[in-house]
Amino acid sequence: MGDSGSYRFSKRLSHVPASFLGELFRVSSQPGVISLAGGLPDAERFDVEGIKNAAVEIFAQEGKTALQYTTTDGYLPLRTYIAQRYRSRLGLNADPNDIQIVNGSQQCLDLLAKILINPGDHVLMERPGYLGAIEAFSYYEPVIDSVQTLDESAGPDLDVLQKQIVTDNPVLWYGIPNSQNPSGITWSSGVRRDVADILDGSDTLLYEDDAFGELFFNGRPRSPVKKWLSHQTVMTGSFSKTISPGLRCGWIWAPHPVIEEFNRAKQASDLHSNLLSQMILTRYLENNNVDERIRETAKIYGERCYLMQEIIDDQFPPGTHHTSPEGGMFMMVTLPSGIDSMELFRKGVSNGVAVMPGFPFYIDGGGSDTIRLNFSAVGLEQISEGMERLSQVLRTLL
Ligand SMILES: Cc1ncc(COP(=O)(O)O)c(C=O)c1O
Repeated sequence: MGDSGSYRFSKRLSHVPASFLGELFRVSSQPGVISLAGGLPDAERFDVEGIKNAAVEIFAQEGKTALQYTTTDGYLPLRTYIAQRYRSRLGLNADPNDIQIVNGSQQCLDLLAKILINPGDHVLMERPGYLGAIEAFSYYEPVIDSVQTLDESAGPDLDVLQKQIVTDNPVLWYGIPNSQNPSGITWSSGVRRDVADILDGSDTLLYEDDAFGELFFNGRPRSPVKKWLSHQTVMTGSFSKTISPGLRCGWIWAPHPVIEEFNRAKQASDLHSNLLSQMILTRYLENNNVDERIRETAKIYGERCYLMQEIIDDQFPPGTHHTSPEGGMFMMVTLPSGIDSMELFRKGVSNGVAVMPGFPFYIDGGGSDTIRLNFSAVGLEQISEGMERLSQVLRTLL
């Protein structure tokens, strides 16, 4: 053993799609390259001082507790805060006992897949879909099918969804109704009710990923599908996009039997999430007006998004189309016919702008004429400059 290719990796690795994200991030972080390819929140929006003050208080007052092991379900004051926020923002009754803290909501994708998916089970997701979900689910060897999500229909194709639920009996239907990653599309309230109706009474669990629900540009929250399908919905959320991803604090809110199994799987995986992070975050949330800060962040992202759209509409070659996000951090662009996104990526990088080619988001093929653009990580000036460069590169490819 040891030379090359002789390590005994598990067979399940062959189900995991090849990732070129490492390469993408290496290339796009070269000096002089404006990256619209990544997915980072703007570090200028982190309240470093406020979080530092919360940490100082925790160390001074509860240091020994914060540095000790704790229970798997997570810090109760933080779970209570999340439950109360569901009540105040969305009018939903959440029991803190049905909420569990995780190491970033990405962990839910892995652990839910672990407790729900048998090899060969069908899993449904949106097309295009979140790459992190495709990768996390793949380790459990499901058949992943996708349902086209379009800006024009404000959500997934409901006829296809209905058909897939009946014919394939998927174990879960994973969706991101608020400002989806990668498309930026938000499901209309009609679509949300229809999705709830279609799933109600079936054997399929809804996995409602709400990573971006607090980032609507106009600050107005939308009712989650869980409102109409509570017993059959697992909902996840995160402080990554609103407070800081480095704290690695997210959560799951699920029906009690699901939470119990999830808890056992999490215990086996990591015993519990970082208690120090949870306590600092809770203290920070108690001491500060986070609503105002989040509203301001969303507004700033909105300005950046609108500028990007304006430049595409005014300067990009005819045949370029973009989605029209109402929030979040991403939009999807369809390129004029015949232009390949990989070629645009390569040529873009050598001309100082990086974009994310769209094809990895399409689990069952296609998408090579699409790119994802991020509008949270860089400011207005860099967006202007980056989009100008992109427009010029595009024209050379026509
Ligand atoms: C749709 C979606 N879900 C989940 C995550 C995971 O985020 P985190 O683990 O930081 O909560 C991300 C990160 O970008 C995301 O875009």
